[in-house]
Amino acid sequence: MSDQKDNPVVPHLELRAVSKTFVGARNTKITAVDTFSLTVQKGEAITIIGPSGCGKSTTLRMIGGFLAPDSGEILLHGVSLTGKGPEERTIPMVFQNYALFPHMNVFENIAYGLKSRKKPMDSIHHDVAMMCQMLNLVGTEERFPHQLSDGQQQRVALARALVLKPELLLFDEPLSNLDARLRLQTRREIKKMQKLLGITTIYVTHDQSEALSMPDRVVVMNRGSIIQVGSPREVYNNPRTPFVADFISNANFYEGEILEFSYESVIVSVNNLEFSVLPEQCDAVYQKGDGVYVAILPQSVTLSSYYPPENSHQVVGEIEALSFNGYSIEYEITFQETFIRVVAPHNFTFVDEYLVKEKVLMHFHPSSFHLFTTKES
Ligand SMILES: Nc1ncnc2c1ncn2[C@@H]1O[C@H](COP(=O)(O)OP(=O)(O)OP(=O)(O)O)[C@@H](O)[C@H]1O
Ligand SMILES: [Mg+2]
Repeated sequence: MSDQKDNPVVPHLELRAVSKTFVGARNTKITAVDTFSLTVQKGEAITIIGPSGCGKSTTLRMIGGFLAPDSGEILLHGVSLTGKGPEERTIPMVFQNYALFPHMNVFENIAYGLKSRKKPMDSIHHDVAMMCQMLNLVGTEERFPHQLSDGQQQRVALARALVLKPELLLFDEPLSNLDARLRLQTRREIKKMQKLLGITTIYVTHDQSEALSMPDRVVVMNRGSIIQVGSPREVYNNPRTPFVADFISNANFYEGEILEFSYESVIVSVNNLEFSVLPEQCDAVYQKGDGVYVAILPQSVTLSSYYPPENSHQVVGEIEALSFNGYSIEYEITFQETFIRVVAPHNFTFVDEYLVKEKVLMHFHPSSFHLFTTKES
């Protein structure tokens, strides 16, 4: 097939119904990846998020050529990669354990890929120096991996991959060994480099904030399959399944009953309270009297101070507990013999903090609610 590299219509990477099954103990079959299909454009940053064991690393290894799919096809610039091993694909991968060469110093580790590509020595020196500058490694060039901190080792692993100026770069939980602050810093560095160099990246993580803050699109996986793909905002604000509402949006779940259902208006009752819901946020067409699962996103409820007397349209709750984390405050609130978690921004300019046992008014916007037929998947 002709080279489709610069054809903008041909995606950079395409996975077509890729599946992989492993044989487990006593010959049981483990479906690690199940008909996974995804199209990735050049320069796009993708994160894949899902619980442990859902098939993230297996998917990445198949793209890198370390594992062969049982069925389906992977295409790079429109050309099938079937039968090509990792050496032929030359898609660098950055892992959780940095896998640096222990007997080589920082310079040699970073230069390794360039040397094996027979680049001239002066250009190797120039490129390695640039990487050390960008990733804050200047001064460590002569040290060996055991003489570096975890964060420095991780940045060397990153530099070693980036110095090759790859068009496509795979990351498998690269930051999970770092402390929270360093993780945030390295996350910003990766994002900056990715955009600056226009590298297509597939980044696997089970950290929700990493999955949402880094990519152009996030892919949510569960049990080997893609559950939802979209921009971080789309997926977070509009979870299409209870699994996504729970795993990505940390939603509160309730059993409810449909009181009214039409294309203009949906009314659901939850614990004898009536709420108006947006029709497009219902996963099915319902009838009056149908039972549903109602997901309420913790950031979508707003609180205000309560002053008696109460009127019949107000929902009054009582603060049970709160936790302050700097950016926001998470309240645990009881209302109508039920319980809800509400996350409110922490704002210096307003008196926006409530105390335990304090009564508050709760405001539910129609977009707070997502209705699902079942609790599953
Ligand atoms: N070589 C193997 N032999 C047998 N089963 C395997 C093998 N590799 C992976 N699996 C199984 O395939 C499934 C998917 O594994 P995978 O490593 O892709 O998960 P993951 O999403 O990366 O999880 P984690 O977040 O824990 O890294 C799991 O059930 C795992 O036990
Ligand atoms: Mg994994």
